[in-house]
Amino acid sequence: MSKILVTGGCGYIGSHTLVDLIENGYEVISVDNNSRSSEAILNGVKDISGKEVKNYAVDLCDFDKTKAIFDENPDIKGIVHFAAYKTVPESVEHPLRYYRNNLYSLINLLDLTRDYKVPNFIFSSSCSVYGNVEDLPVTEETTLVRPQSPYGNTKKIGEEIIEDFSKVCDSKFIALRYFNPIGAHPSAQIGETPFLPPQNLMPIITETAIGKREKMYVFGTDYPTRDGSCVRDYIHVVDIAHAHTLALDHLQKNLHSDNYDVYNIGTGNGVSVLEILQSFEKATGKKLNYELKERRPGDAIAVFANKNKISEKIGWEPQYSLEDMMRTSWAWEEKRMELSKEV
Ligand code: WQD
Repeated sequence: MSKILVTGGCGYIGSHTLVDLIENGYEVISVDNNSRSSEAILNGVKDISGKEVKNYAVDLCDFDKTKAIFDENPDIKGIVHFAAYKTVPESVEHPLRYYRNNLYSLINLLDLTRDYKVPNFIFSSSCSVYGNVEDLPVTEETTLVRPQSPYGNTKKIGEEIIEDFSKVCDSKFIALRYFNPIGAHPSAQIGETPFLPPQNLMPIITETAIGKREKMYVFGTDYPTRDGSCVRDYIHVVDIAHAHTLALDHLQKNLHSDNYDVYNIGTGNGVSVLEILQSFEKATGKKLNYELKERRPGDAIAVFANKNKISEKIGWEPQYSLEDMMRTSWAWEEKRMELSKEV
């Protein structure tokens, strides 16, 4: 059973990926300094998978402490690297915090990947590397422009660092560019647990529906889209998690010709903000109190994926519908409300 080190294992996509890896026969360990997460999520991982996952509460920017994890686990066969700061507005206000944290941690991990001969490395990248694109759906060959935020730029630079490093390191690397991750595990045992007040759409919708927020806003309805609101490619977090497992399987079976490759992870469907609201109300029967507001600076008008490459080369297909994404997001918000009452 191959042992996989998942960085950011206490995070939203990290915790769902722990579950998927365990269910597909991998042994997993996590490293997460819990600066923006809590180890409590691993109780949910255990409820679902039956496995207790060990977390090393270590800052990956601390090389010596990170190295000690590899000394203790010389049999690590793969790394899935999620751990990073990811709040777009915060990255605009504190760029050096983002460049330091997201890039120092990556560089330390790459050094250790080489030193401990870890054969496979999956990097959590993002559709934010595409910025505002003209021709849609976006493919991996789309020319990258300067991302709209320092956060997106740390992902673009991260990919470039890995690509250069892969030329002098025998390990194999895959970068996965997620579109908009939403939803929660169908068990409602794990889900998105914002550490800072959320800026992204889905948690704001569910917090509004459950009454944590009196109302929410739709930022811009005068865009050149079918209903005037921005279009995104929303993808269920469990589908994203499974893409990591399939990518690792692909690398483990040595089916990867290049040392570095990059794949989009999206459904290929563009959905507008107003359509998301309507879909949520239809799927849950909850009425949303929202107000139309002016545009939010930095928002791309429309971005959604061409997913052919990962489907053809790795055999991944999204399984969850938009309705599933709405229902599981809502079930998780209700569970969180229950848990908060128990405390
Ligand atoms: C989506 C749309 C908002 C909140 C995110 C992550 C980024 C990356 C891609 C991982 C926009 C509108 C939002 C609200 C609204 N993921 N909106 N009212 O900006 O596409 O980027 O996914 O790497 O890290 O941030 O997602 O959910 O913030 O916004 O109208 O209260 O919803 O204007 O059009 P975004 P988002």
